[in-house]
Amino acid sequence: MSKQKLIPNTFALKCIADSSIAWPEQQNQFDKNQPYLVVGEGSNILLLQEFFHGQLIQVNNSQFVVSQTQDAYIVELGGGLNWHQTLVQLLEQGIQGAENLALIPGTVGAAPVQNIGAYGIEIAQFVVAVEAYDIQLEQRVKLTTEQCQFAYRDSIFKHQTYQSKSRFIIETVWLKFAKNAQVVTEYGPLKQFAEDYQQQHGSLPAATLVFDEVCRIRQSKLPDPKVLPNAGSFFKNPIVDKQHAQQLQQQNAHCADMPIYPYSDNLVKLAAGFLIDKAGFKGLEHKGAKVHELQALVLVNNSQAKGTDIAKLAKRVCEKVEAEYQIKLQPEVRFIHEFAEVDAVEYLTELVEVN
Ligand code: EPU
Repeated sequence: MSKQKLIPNTFALKCIADSSIAWPEQQNQFDKNQPYLVVGEGSNILLLQEFFHGQLIQVNNSQFVVSQTQDAYIVELGGGLNWHQTLVQLLEQGIQGAENLALIPGTVGAAPVQNIGAYGIEIAQFVVAVEAYDIQLEQRVKLTTEQCQFAYRDSIFKHQTYQSKSRFIIETVWLKFAKNAQVVTEYGPLKQFAEDYQQQHGSLPAATLVFDEVCRIRQSKLPDPKVLPNAGSFFKNPIVDKQHAQQLQQQNAHCADMPIYPYSDNLVKLAAGFLIDKAGFKGLEHKGAKVHELQALVLVNNSQAKGTDIAKLAKRVCEKVEAEYQIKLQPEVRFIHEFAEVDAVEYLTELVEVN
């Protein structure tokens, strides 16, 4: 087992793990009864302390195997691959369908955990199976899409635990892409792009053009973690009663033009970024942690913030949104403490703001 190691994370927070394990090569050095943390590129974690007293596990599987049936491509992907680069390679081979998920930071293995999604698409639509090492059973298991229990930014991998830590280490993901896949351009800014394109060319844009457009849109408002450290959307978009959303639209002056997305019969999804923005919190700063100026759903580490500074800013955002709209925001980002992941909502509730 190698010695102490900095935990990679796109918030650029300094946190040292006691030891690190390259998975699966060093699997025999893993002690499941000691604290551990599975991290890909660290694009969805908030490290709250400067030390993690446990084993940092990093998955190295990097196979990229394409097979095909008459109407679909089946792609077997190692969990350690970078998601965006994988997407580029797929498109180069004429395999399309996931182009809307361009530029999402992180690894292939991390993608199913929070069911990455953007511009009307979620990875769940393509997953046929996920192979993981089950820490509890001490063996590899293959989960079907149903067994993964995918939902909005959610999956079984967030909930099944072994001694309060993640139970699974994702090693391989199988995705299926239909050969006749149509581009999906219904969502917001892509819709306009596709309509303009269709008017000019008489057909929908090719997947590679949609990919380029998604990259352009993301680059225009989402900060590049390499330049301005962040973990993408910090909060999930809240899912609320239809009635509550309608009341807000009618009674809260800020909410007259609030976007409302259908979710189920009685529920709708709101845009947390819109709510935070309208509450006047864009650009709000706390000790180097900042609500991003262009996308209020993103918190950035503007200058040398600590994990706890980012958490305190998040708490302020939650309190403001609750006071203004009677909506409890839930972090999408996972909170990592000294020995293990902690429940982000509980952590924020209990966090005492000294200053
Ligand atoms: N909005 C504002 N002000 C803001 C931010 C957003 O008014 O500061 C408005 C926008 O104008 C738009 C609405 O809120 O009307 C939604 O904003 P946007 O399209 O930017 O998407 P989002 O709901 O904030 C979600 C995902 C993103 C994903 C985009 C595009 C979540 C938590 N976030 O953001 O995913 O890229 O949709 O599909 O679901 C991520 O998960 O890290 C992430 C970036």
